[in-house]
Amino acid sequence: MTPSDVKATLSFSDGSPSMALPIYKGTVGPEVIDIRKLYAQTGKFTYDPGFLSTAACNSTITYIDGDKGELLYRGYPIEQLATNCDFLETCYLLLNGELPNPSQKIAFTKLVTNHTMVNEQMQFFLRGFRRDAHPMAIMTGLVGALSAFYHDSTDINNPQHREISAIRLIAKMPTLVSMAYKYTVGQPYIYPKNDLSYAGNFMRMMFATPCEEYVPNDVLVRAMDRIFILHADHEQNASTSTVRLCGSSGTNPFAAIAAGVACLWGPAHGGANEAALNMLGDVQKMGGVEKIGEFIKKVKDKEAGVKLMGFGHRVYKNYDPRAKLMRETCHEVLGALGLENDPLFKLAMALEKIALEDEYFVARKLYPNVDFYSGIVQRAIGIPVSLFTAVFALARTVGWIAQLNEMIGDPEYKIGRPRQLFNGATARDVKPLAARV
Ligand code: CMC
Repeated sequence: MTPSDVKATLSFSDGSPSMALPIYKGTVGPEVIDIRKLYAQTGKFTYDPGFLSTAACNSTITYIDGDKGELLYRGYPIEQLATNCDFLETCYLLLNGELPNPSQKIAFTKLVTNHTMVNEQMQFFLRGFRRDAHPMAIMTGLVGALSAFYHDSTDINNPQHREISAIRLIAKMPTLVSMAYKYTVGQPYIYPKNDLSYAGNFMRMMFATPCEEYVPNDVLVRAMDRIFILHADHEQNASTSTVRLCGSSGTNPFAAIAAGVACLWGPAHGGANEAALNMLGDVQKMGGVEKIGEFIKKVKDKEAGVKLMGFGHRVYKNYDPRAKLMRETCHEVLGALGLENDPLFKLAMALEKIALEDEYFVARKLYPNVDFYSGIVQRAIGIPVSLFTAVFALARTVGWIAQLNEMIGDPEYKIGRPRQLFNGATARDVKPLAARV
């Protein structure tokens, strides 16, 4: 970390000695004040629920400039990666820091495709779930269960174990997501076919049946691949921080990633794509474009927690660059399928236009995020709404692993252990049951 010439001074109005705090500069982005010695020197903690002002780690992987609406993976703008690279190149970049050259790309693709099958026993484990289980409930279980299947890659402190578990997770997630889907619709599982691309293979496992081959459509495969690229990493978001915190105890990589899957499920995070599409469906049922005003009024009145799902972001205070790319993909996919007049897409665009001009959203800098359009694309591809978040988890797995491995390799890493401001009862004596009122 590069120290700044400037130091921060923390002073107290009760005359306690002040404390000088070092400041570090990153290569870009806000500087950080190092408070690690604060408790030892002052006996005080900082208070920052939701980590509004706290950098919990130092990282070299992903950078977001929320005011500019900029997203960089290892320094490369997301727009260039989404246009010039495929998902496996992006995985290589996130894991290794550099884009692969042609021979590295061939070797990495071969390595990943060699691991696409899952242990045959996995299907019997899957059978224990109800057929109507939510795919994210299934995914949380299946990913956690991988640690019971691959005993040779569970030591997070062993670099070879970390490497092989990373490849296994990236390779097996499409197989597991499609198995979760096939299970819920009662169709036989389709085994991976390794001469297809990563996205093409996933779509075949989703949509082929033993009686009918799935012929991938290039525009749709490219759209799926772009969804994966756009969701691959997003610096210290809730699920990534969960993976880091979980992994900081030394648990195995599969267990840490399963914790990320569980966190991602929430509607304020990865579950927003499902929630956004359901919301569009609800507005459509209310009467569609005509009723947008009425719906926006409910949102602004904060009526029963009604939110404009797919809008707003903790970091982006400008248009999410991923949403722009997703809107572009939406046009391409709907065009390729002859669905240019898709009523939900029209509704989404009308809703976006009205919201972007409305004082409530302008004042709070609420813009569409990636989830506003990704659901429409996935639905057009044929992915069922309840599987959207599992597709997000599939794509985010590489980011979680890259961040986890970065943490384990950091000599300054410690088990995560936040402190608290305690406001409960102070010490008191337990009364015998008969004496309690
Ligand atoms: N609709 C209506 N009002 C909103 C919305 C929204 N989608 N998002 C934020 N606000 C309001 C919020 O009520 C608050 O208003 P006030 O100042 O009057 O109290 C203000 O904007 C600031 O919001 P916040 O909740 O303090 O912001 P946050 O940084 O804690 O939350 C968020 C960020 C993403 C959780 C939130 O914007 C949200 O719930 N959005 C909808 C869910 C969604 O689309 N999530 C996907 C995020 S992108 C994918 C990912 O990375 O996981």
